[in-house]
Amino acid sequence: MPSSNDIRATFLDFFVRNGHTAVPSSSLVPRNDPTLLFTNSGMVQFKNVFTGAEKRPYSRATTAQKCVRAGGKHNDLDNVGYTARHHTFFEMLGNFSFGDYFKPLAIEQAWTLLTRDFGLPKDKLLVTVYSEDDEAADLWKSIAGLSDSKIIRIPTSDNFWRMGDTGPCGPCSEIFYDHGDTIPGGPPGSPDEDGDRFIEIWNLVFMQYEEGPPGVRAPLPRPSIDTGMGMERFAAILQGVHDNYDTDTFRALILASADITGQEPDGPFRASHRVVADHLRSTSFLIAEGVLPSNEGRGYVLRRIMRRAMRHLHMMGAREPMMWRLVPVLVRQMGAAYPELPQAETLIIETLRLEETRFKAMLERGLHLLADEVSKLGDTQALPGDVAFRLYDTYGFPLDLTQDALREQGRAVDISGFDTAMTEQRTRARAAWAGTGDAAAERVWFEQREAVGATEFQGYNVEKAEAQVTSIVIGGMAVQRAEPGDKVSVLLNQTPFYAESGGQVGDTGTITGLGGLRIAISDTQKRAGDAFAHIGVVEAGEVTVGMPVVAELDHIRRGNIRAHHSATHLLHEALRRRLGTHVQQKGSLNAPDRLRFDVSQPTPISKADLKMVEAEVNARIRENAPVTTRLMTPEAAVAEGAMALFGEKYGDEVRVVAMGNGDDGRPAYSIELCGGTHVRRTGDIGLFRLVSEGAVSAGVRRIEAVTGEAALAMMAESERRVDELAALLKANPAELGARVATLIEDRKRLEKQVSELQRKLATGAGAPELEEISGIPLAARNVGEVPGKELRALVDAIAEQVGSGVVAIVSTADGKASIAVGVSADLVKRVSAVDLVRAAAAAVGGKGGGGRPDMAQAGGPDGDHADDALEAIRGVLKAL
Ligand code: ALA
Repeated sequence: MPSSNDIRATFLDFFVRNGHTAVPSSSLVPRNDPTLLFTNSGMVQFKNVFTGAEKRPYSRATTAQKCVRAGGKHNDLDNVGYTARHHTFFEMLGNFSFGDYFKPLAIEQAWTLLTRDFGLPKDKLLVTVYSEDDEAADLWKSIAGLSDSKIIRIPTSDNFWRMGDTGPCGPCSEIFYDHGDTIPGGPPGSPDEDGDRFIEIWNLVFMQYEEGPPGVRAPLPRPSIDTGMGMERFAAILQGVHDNYDTDTFRALILASADITGQEPDGPFRASHRVVADHLRSTSFLIAEGVLPSNEGRGYVLRRIMRRAMRHLHMMGAREPMMWRLVPVLVRQMGAAYPELPQAETLIIETLRLEETRFKAMLERGLHLLADEVSKLGDTQALPGDVAFRLYDTYGFPLDLTQDALREQGRAVDISGFDTAMTEQRTRARAAWAGTGDAAAERVWFEQREAVGATEFQGYNVEKAEAQVTSIVIGGMAVQRAEPGDKVSVLLNQTPFYAESGGQVGDTGTITGLGGLRIAISDTQKRAGDAFAHIGVVEAGEVTVGMPVVAELDHIRRGNIRAHHSATHLLHEALRRRLGTHVQQKGSLNAPDRLRFDVSQPTPISKADLKMVEAEVNARIRENAPVTTRLMTPEAAVAEGAMALFGEKYGDEVRVVAMGNGDDGRPAYSIELCGGTHVRRTGDIGLFRLVSEGAVSAGVRRIEAVTGEAALAMMAESERRVDELAALLKANPAELGARVATLIEDRKRLEKQVSELQRKLATGAGAPELEEISGIPLAARNVGEVPGKELRALVDAIAEQVGSGVVAIVSTADGKASIAVGVSADLVKRVSAVDLVRAAAAAVGGKGGGGRPDMAQAGGPDGDHADDALEAIRGVLKAL
């Protein structure tokens, strides 16, 4: 009996032998389609290849594709557990032709694979074709030898396959397996076709059209093929069972669920085990791709699936969180085919455990409330919508969980009552908000956010993605369209653009779309909490609300921002280790060209400490250790040693970014709560250089630094300066220090010589020239360009030669005048040096002057009037 793994391998091998390229499954979160919540079939990743918009190096492909059908257009969630063939997660096997072969070979290959390689008896098979498709019917006759009674023509949309509301589509032909007349049910198209006797195993879609906006359908460039076989139901047939949940993979999960809960696999909790087994698969695969539980978008679908399974575990008596214990069983079953599962095993386990721990307390109380409320109702009365809303709002019960809980009683929920309660709550929120401010622009965003919901951020994993325009705002007004030249803020339903927060700047890039649309985005900002406004100018084409677009951010710029942000985390930790744990983040900026980091630190950080910190960060970069991100409760994160910012308000769950190798029992070098984007390995930062350190305010120091390219540019610049200097000094860079030291020495020596020479020059060789005023000998001299500080020594030198008398010297330096006056001891009774110098200072525009009666100094701004200063002194002496 072939295992599921064998079946997958046989399928892929067959098509590879027939010229197909085996292409890995694409991610569950579609990167190329904004209208799809999850990848729901094999062709999703090839959507643009069918339409010709994307080229691949092959024209035939085969895949085993991960699919999720929950929460979107194709939603199977409600039925899971209660039927033989509904799943939230399943694998679709398929083969594809992109304008290569068409109907004949598609039918021939399918028939050969089923009847020869898989050995299905021909008489167990029958097919449907779209009623107008005579060609397909004829081919089934000639290739497979099927009689008319086994070729059923279906006129309805059942045999016209569409990916979604838009996208490639075409008539299809489905292959059915007949489980025999012991099982109730009629052939396809008959009134009792929903029975379990005839099971569709393979859908061959003859892709011919592309569905556009309503009413528009264009032919594809070349007819193509898309096929899809549900792996689980096909495995059931080959493994001789009738129920997908009896196949090997599911059985292993169900037995494990029975084991941990202690409940019989096929006893009263049969449906619960199935719910758990199915939901474990979808949640694990989604988490492995980075989808994490949240209250919006895909994250909320994940949460709904998880909580639904958790309620079933709770019913089976689970007292402790349990779902996580099944993860290793799943990894054993499917890890070889999908390596992303073992790679993310820890993340999956932690995420499940956290969600179940948090939900458990509320679950218990919510179920009590539900039982209470139900006891007040009549047998068939629906649960009032406001009760369902209270369960949702207060106890975290997704609506479908409540519906599922009431399913066994055959009781419904009043959905419109639930919707009304939800609307009322929104209205209250709006009223409360209106009281806090009145800026029109803010109100616009609040209203838009309410109307279109939060933006789903995809930029942790991708930098380019398709998205849908949900709102356009110009000058504070919501509009339906915008044209070239318009300055717009555009909201998208999902985006790779990071909106500025936590110190990381917003992304820039482009939004492009049909009709040559191009918007240059210069910034991304959060509005009304979690709506991402892409701010820019329409350069070409027209943008309208609802249109699909491609959002692509500036990759190089983002790479540089990432490097700076990750380096900030390393810097933070390095500072704490070097200076002490009082070092706390007080502010930060992570830009493409630099980082700025403010920390609490009372004193300047010494050069030596800075050097050590820089070296430490660079050592961690060279270590090239992985950077990991996990979702945890703030408490658990802090228990692991994460740096939480004091006074910061965190939600119930936080992203925890860990990087660098751990030591002393710490799992990583740096562990921080952070919503930003980071490098994959520390080595990606490249290089780290401190630029400056200084004070910002009391007790806060600011560090600026650069990484990667910016650091290299900075080093290149300093190298250039050194080279310039070396050239100037005609020395090689290594000798520069010694050379400059010698120069400084030389300069000092020369300065000394100069001042000695100046003094000699000023005092002259022989006796100073004297004049006599009021009987007092005066030596008055303008010595020209001599620094003021030299004058005193000059006065002393001349006074020595003069003996009894007055010595007055003025000099000019940098256009200013300096004056020094000495009066010999025998004359200080008649005239004070201070009076003389004051009079002199006034002549050169100076004020005051000071000293003692025998020696005083002053200065003034008017160097040109130096001689007048001496004249003023003569004047004072004359007046004695
Ligand atoms: N895309 C087709 C399907 O999902 C094959 O059924």
